[in-house]
Amino acid sequence: MSRLGKKKSRSMITGARSAYTRTFTTTGLVGEAGFEPAISGLTTGALGQTELLSEVSWEYVIKRPTRRQEAAADILSYLMATVFILGRLPELSRAEINAVLGDPPATLLSPDVLRLNRAAAESAQLLARLGGTVKIGVIMAPEFSPAAVAEDILREADAAGKLNFGLSWYGKPKAAARRLAAGLEVKKILKAGGRSCRLVTSQDAQLSAVVVRKNHCREYLVLPDQSLARTLAVQDFVDFTRRDVGRPHRDLKSGTLPPKLARIMVNLARLPAGGSLLDPFCGSGTILTEAVLAGVGTVAGTDISERAVTQSLGNLQWISRQYPTAAAHWQVQVADARKISTALGAQRFDAVVTEPYLGPPRRGRESKTQLENTLRELAALYREAFHEFHAVLKPGGRVVFAQPAFATGRQLMTLPIADDIRRLGFAQQLGPLDYARPEQYVVRQLTVWQRA
Ligand SMILES: C[S@@+](CC[C@H](N)C(=O)[O-])C[C@H]1O[C@@H](n2cnc3c(N)ncnc32)[C@H](O)[C@@H]1O
Repeated sequence: MSRLGKKKSRSMITGARSAYTRTFTTTGLVGEAGFEPAISGLTTGALGQTELLSEVSWEYVIKRPTRRQEAAADILSYLMATVFILGRLPELSRAEINAVLGDPPATLLSPDVLRLNRAAAESAQLLARLGGTVKIGVIMAPEFSPAAVAEDILREADAAGKLNFGLSWYGKPKAAARRLAAGLEVKKILKAGGRSCRLVTSQDAQLSAVVVRKNHCREYLVLPDQSLARTLAVQDFVDFTRRDVGRPHRDLKSGTLPPKLARIMVNLARLPAGGSLLDPFCGSGTILTEAVLAGVGTVAGTDISERAVTQSLGNLQWISRQYPTAAAHWQVQVADARKISTALGAQRFDAVVTEPYLGPPRRGRESKTQLENTLRELAALYREAFHEFHAVLKPGGRVVFAQPAFATGRQLMTLPIADDIRRLGFAQQLGPLDYARPEQYVVRQLTVWQRA
C-alpha cells in the first residue's frame, strides 16, 4: 500500500469514480480519523456513511496526519485503485496505458495484472480506447472472501431477475476444486439472502472476455495479492474481430496489422487533442482506421501502391459508415515514403505511425545471406524514410515504428538502425518491444521516437 503523506506534513487522497454508485465501507475509519473533504462532490456531510456517486471527484486533505490518519489514507488510496488485466503482450499493454493516462503511478501485481494507484474515470470508455487491455476493474477489498463478494452483490446488483456471477483468479494458480468451492460459498450466502443467481464457471482459472460478455456476467477478480476487485468493463472482442476480418479490403500478401496492435501503436503516439497522424506506408489502412476510431483529428495516409491507396480509401469509407460518430478528417494519396515531404507540401504532423514495407513474404526456407541482404535493403529504405519523417513532423512530434526482425530457429536477426535514427535528430522514447504470434517468421519490433 502507498504511504500517503508519510514524509509530507499533510495527507491527501484524491480520486474520481464513475459509472456506478458504491458505498465506501471504510469511510467510517476516515471520518473517525478526522479527514475533511477538501472539495465538494460528496453526497452527505457525515463521512461515516458517505456515498460516492458516479462522476464525483473527491479529495481529502489533512494537515500533519497522525499515524491512524495515515493508515486510513493508505486503506482509502488502496481501495481507490483500478486494476487492468493486460492482453497477450503485457509490456506493450502497459506502455499503451502509460501513453493514454500520462504515466500514472502503478504497481505490477503479476506480468498481466496492473494496479493503478488511483480510480479510473469512465472505465468502459477507457477500455474502448485501448487495444491491449482485456478488462478494467475496481479494487473493492484488500482481501478476497466469499462473504465480501456476496455482500457486494446483495448491496448493489439489481435485485430483479436471476443474476449471473463468476470469479476469476489471477496470480498463483489455485486448485479448480478450491475455486469452485469459493464460488459455491458465495452462491450459498446469496441464496440465504434471498437472491437467485447462477455461478458462471470455466475450465480456466479466469473467465475469458468472451464468457463474461456472453453470459452478461458480473465478474469478481481475485488478484495476485489476494485483493478483491470487480470488473467494470470488458474488451469488445467482437468489434475488433469485425474490423479485422469483416472490413472490405485486406492485403494478405503484403500483410495487414491486427487492429488491436494498430490501436496500440496509435495510442503510443501520445497525440494531443485534435492532433494529426500520418501513415506513409498505409497499405490497406489499418492504422488509419484505428486512428479515426481513437478520435485523432486529422488522419493522412500515403503508399507507393495505387492499389493500397484504393484499399485504404475503401476501408476508411466502410469505417465511416459503420461508426458514424467517428469524426476525423482523413486523406489518402499515392506517394513514395522517401519523397513524402514533396508530396505533402507544407503539411506538418504531430505523429508518424507506421508499419513499413517488411520485405518479401517469408516462407521460412530463406538462407541467412538472403535474410541479411533483405535487412540491408530495408535499413536503407528506413533511413531515407526517417529523413523524410523528420521533415514532415512538427518539432517534438513522434514516430511509432514497427520494424521487422527475422526469427531463424533460436536466433532473431534485427535491423541495426537505431544509431542512424538518432543521428537524424530523434531521441528513442520506447522499445524495441516485440510483437509476434507463435510460429511467425517475422517479428514486429515496436519503437517510439521523438523528433527534436
Ligand atoms: C506491410 S504493408 C503495410 C500494411 C498496413 N500497415 C496495413 O495494416 O494494412 C507495407 C506497405 O508499404 C508499401 N510500400 C512499399 N514501399 C514503399 C515506399 N517506398 N513508399 C511507400 N510505401 C511503400 C507497400 O505498398 C505496402 O502497402
